[in-house]
Parts: sequence; C-alpha cells; structure tokens
Amino acid sequence: MAEVIVVPGRDAAGAMVAEATERLVQGKPDAVLGLATGDTPLPVYRALAERVRDGLDLGRMRGFALDEYVGIPLAHPQSYHSVIEREVVRPLRLAPANVHVPDGRPIGIETAGERYEDAILAAGGVDLQLLGIGTDGHIGFNEPGSSFASLTRVKTLTRQTRADNARFFDSPDDVPVHSITQGLGTILRARRLVLLAFGAGKAQAVAAAVEGPLTASVPASAIQLHPRATVVVDEEAASGLAELEYYRHAFANKPLWDPVIL
Ligand code: GLP
Repeated sequence: MAEVIVVPGRDAAGAMVAEATERLVQGKPDAVLGLATGDTPLPVYRALAERVRDGLDLGRMRGFALDEYVGIPLAHPQSYHSVIEREVVRPLRLAPANVHVPDGRPIGIETAGERYEDAILAAGGVDLQLLGIGTDGHIGFNEPGSSFASLTRVKTLTRQTRADNARFFDSPDDVPVHSITQGLGTILRARRLVLLAFGAGKAQAVAAAVEGPLTASVPASAIQLHPRATVVVDEEAASGLAELEYYRHAFANKPLWDPVIL
C-alpha cells in the first residue's frame, strides 16, 4: 500500500517533496521528474524555485508532463505547455529542451501518444512522478474507467473535470473536451510516485484511492499497485481515511534508514 504522510499544510508538503527532489538530483543530475499541473503541485515548484535561487542547479534535470489539452493553441495561457513553462521551466531554470509535454495539436494527434511513450523510454523512464488527484479520482487526465494498463492517449474529459477546471478559463464552455494524457500504465512505470492532495474536496477521492478497492472507477487506486508510492496530504484531505492513526504511527516511527519519499 501507499505510505501516507499527513502534513500541516501545503508549504510543508512542498518543502518535503522539494527536499526529496534535491536529494534525487544530487545523486543523479539528469534525473527525470514527472510533472503534474493544477494547483496541487505548485507548493513543490515554489519550494524548488527557492532552492534554485539559493544555488541548487537543476540545469540537467529532465521533465515529462503528465498531460495536455487537445485542441487549444500551445500559446494559450492555459495550455499545459504554457503552464509548465510558467510554473516550472522558468522558475526552476530548467533547460527548455529537457522538458516535454504531450503534443495536443490536432495534426498528428493519432501518433502523439506513441511518440510520447517513446520519448519517456528513450529518457530512461521517470524517476519521480508528481501527481495530483481530481475530485472524481482521476490522475493525469485518466478519467474513471481508464485501464490500469493504458499508455499515453487521447481521453474525453468528464463533465466533472471540465467543471473543476472551468476556473482556469473565461467560460466553462472554453474548457477543452479532450486531453492527451499519460496512461495509468505509463504512470505505474515511474520509479517513485508522490501523490499530493489538499483540502476537504479531495478527502473522498484520497480515501477511495488509498483504501478503496482497486478499480478503474477510481483511477488513482492504481497507485496501490506501485511498490514505492507516497501520498502527502493535509488534515482535510486525510479526513476520510479509516486508518489515519496507523499512518501517523508509521510515520512517527519511520526507520532512519528509510528516507522520506526517496
Ligand atoms: C487536472 C490535471 C490533473 C490534476 C487535477 C487536479 O485535471 N490534469 O493532473 O491532478 O486537475 O487539479 P488541482 O490540483 O488543481 O486540484
């Protein structure tokens, strides 16, 4: 099962994951970080940017984003190309050529998934994959029903996901209907998974992902299949977990030889 770590808030989560990322890069300067979008990973990027300002060099680190909308121009401020550029590449001073986002442009979309899989494999796979979680239990844009073996492909977004993401667009109708996303099978190949979740709105999805049955109806439950998955949550997002006391006890008694996250 996933290791669950309850933190006081977003900043503590960001600091913890940034610290693990720094350790990863110290051992492997060209490590591959799996990049998530949405609000959730922002504290991690902020904490990493602070470390970069203090001298951490991420110039050789490589990145692969989880997903992208299909059918909005790359230059649209809400395309994940733009978001990754704004929130990750620039503040972390990554080399733009080292950072990849699935290609959601209509021309060539039939082969874009396969090309993305090839690029991840050519890079040697993802070392540390950051994940958020949708209120319907999706990771990346793997909506309920996604196969645990799925690879990067086009997915139709659910009504719920489009409503959740409407806040980023001028009007709910502007939210794209389709996305291209790493599959659950792609995500499970990463060597380390860290799923972050904050706020009461995520409590049900977190409980279903961590403690519910393995089911394609809750795509994030796929993390139960991963041997090295950590779930970092605040009190609100943790509030639906039945075994919360056990997770706190396990973390309080974490062996010294077992580092946090990595
Ligand atoms: C989007 C992204 C997911 C993200 C989810 C949650 O659907 N494709 O990768 O995890 O939203 O977003 P937020 O972190 O803003 O709650």
